[in-house]
Amino acid sequence: MNRRVYLDHNASTPVHPEVLQAMLPYFSERYGNPSSVHGFGRESREGIDAAREQIAAFLKVSKDEIVFTSGGTESDNLGIKGVAAARRAGHIITSQIEHHAVLRTVQTLEQEGFTATYLPVDGDGMVSPDDVRAALRPDTIVVSLMGANSEVGTLQPIREIGRITREAGVPLHVDGVQTFGKVPIDVEASGIDLLSFSGHKIYGPKGVAGLYIRKSTKMASIQHGGEHERRRRAGTENVAGIVGLGKAVEIRAREMGEEATRLTALRDRLWQGVREGVGEVRLNGHPTQRLPGTCNMCFRNVESESIVLGLDLKGIGVSAGSACTSGNVEPSYVLVAMGIPLDWAMGSVRSSLGHATSAEDIEYVIESIVPLVAKLRTQSPVGAGRP
Ligand SMILES: Cc1ncc(COP(=O)(O)O)c(C=O)c1O
Repeated sequence: MNRRVYLDHNASTPVHPEVLQAMLPYFSERYGNPSSVHGFGRESREGIDAAREQIAAFLKVSKDEIVFTSGGTESDNLGIKGVAAARRAGHIITSQIEHHAVLRTVQTLEQEGFTATYLPVDGDGMVSPDDVRAALRPDTIVVSLMGANSEVGTLQPIREIGRITREAGVPLHVDGVQTFGKVPIDVEASGIDLLSFSGHKIYGPKGVAGLYIRKSTKMASIQHGGEHERRRRAGTENVAGIVGLGKAVEIRAREMGEEATRLTALRDRLWQGVREGVGEVRLNGHPTQRLPGTCNMCFRNVESESIVLGLDLKGIGVSAGSACTSGNVEPSYVLVAMGIPLDWAMGSVRSSLGHATSAEDIEYVIESIVPLVAKLRTQSPVGAGRP
């Protein structure tokens, strides 16, 4: 049997065994509704409170500033729509390379009468703080930018941007789904007012996440019902999920630093090995200001899907930059925004490394990808005869 190598941690991660253990009692003996006043309810409430404290301690914020949600997508929706609902009109600044959870939220608000600026990025996928400053208007109600892009891993200059938004008195929402628990985030020094994070990117469960909301941020709730989460997000809490998220954060606090160093070395070895073995390949994203485990490469004149499928046959899980929409293969909008030519962008493959990734795994991937790309190029009409 083939070795199995999972290099899609930016898509999702396995639940850490300690996280699973922490969650299990909340599926069986601790089943009370956390809003109930009896002992059964209080046991569930204690689980939620402990998780809130773990996360607040990690972010060095107050526990009242953490709201639990059903995913990074909901956190992004709540952050942006919550500010918009409190203000009722105004201008939103975001970037062209945000996750759809942000892009489509802002587009929806545009249909409701808000206006928006989608900032460009440079060739490395970075937003310029000067562009943020220039885009600010007297009616700007929120700036929403991602901490790191999920496809190419480029880290945005959030500290510099936060200085600008703070000076202007405009709330800064950071989609931190890819940075939270992977690289340090200092909400205070970075002037972050709203921070989205998600469990399943950090070895926690899927379908549970959070939003940090600075106390002074004017927000309205967007989901109506009970008094949960201090009336900011109605709905009975996903107790087991929240407990798992808290545990996952506790583990990240312990392991993040060392793991970042290890993954950066493995990520760089992957790029070095592929670059030495394959012609016409480029690395996407910022050379250094990048998520530790993310390596996005473009192979000119090869289709991403063919590489993903070829590697899948070898037991390797990576993801394609291009996507099939309505029968047409489209290049990634992130790579297009970065100005990457089409013949390169169509051959983009993202590897995202994680906790279990070993040096042997990376050598196996290099040994698999080099002959695969060579073979695909001999088969492709545009790539025939290429090395
Ligand atoms: C940057 C970013 N934002 C938001 C999301 C959505 O998070 P979730 O899958 O928890 O809804 C993702 C997931 O890939 C992401 O990478």
